[in-house]
Amino acid sequence: MQVDIVEPVEFGRACAEFIEEVLQRRPDALIGLPTGNTPLPLYAELRARAQRGWSAGRMRVVMIDDYLDVVPDEIGPYPWLRRELLDPLRIAADRVLRIPNREAGIEAACAAFERDLAAWGGCDLLLPGLGWNGHIGFNEPDAAIDSRTRVVKLTETTADLNALYWGGRAHPNRAVTMGIGTMLEARDIRLMVRGRGKAEVLRRALREPPSPAMPASWLQRAHSARVLADVNAVQG
Ligand code: GLP
Repeated sequence: MQVDIVEPVEFGRACAEFIEEVLQRRPDALIGLPTGNTPLPLYAELRARAQRGWSAGRMRVVMIDDYLDVVPDEIGPYPWLRRELLDPLRIAADRVLRIPNREAGIEAACAAFERDLAAWGGCDLLLPGLGWNGHIGFNEPDAAIDSRTRVVKLTETTADLNALYWGGRAHPNRAVTMGIGTMLEARDIRLMVRGRGKAEVLRRALREPPSPAMPASWLQRAHSARVLADVNAVQG
């Protein structure tokens, strides 16, 4: 997989360029966006552009993952994404494909999400982050290459780290994620990685033979996937 390396201060701008390029080709492109620390510079850059008059136009967004049932809606990933990006960019709810997050009827809802994703034309650009143990979305180790959108149990460490992220107000240990197979169908994938703490896991994801033990390594099998890393994430 090709790795594009940028200075940390350039990270947000470089990610934003991918989105701009896709929108130029397809104004209503469907972009898969994550939550977490990694995309913060990207969202700050897009908000700054919007303030300077840039418009996201008809851009559409698909969510990559969410928690199952346990997080009060006001602090979950969707309200977070609204605050960080969707509202400032005026991307209305009908242009956002949400991943289901309620336990009742979840299997049928996951299947419906997959159908909706296809009906929306499929994902034009997927921008996942890289988890501490190589997870992408919430595909924790043991994720098969052909896995689809489904409920997953989080490892203890992932659950603990995520609880910290939400200020300890919730401690979800189950989540819903796009499957690896679902992700690999995106027309283009840019794995976003920044910070020293990701150097070792990125090295493994790039060099190890693809396997369920290192979910991000499956990206080596994608027809079009590259990594955008800041220098810290490649130098450690
Ligand atoms: C989380 C999320 C992912 C995210 C990843 C990295 O658990 N499920 O969507 O990309 O881990 O998070 P961060 O960017 O905060 O390091």
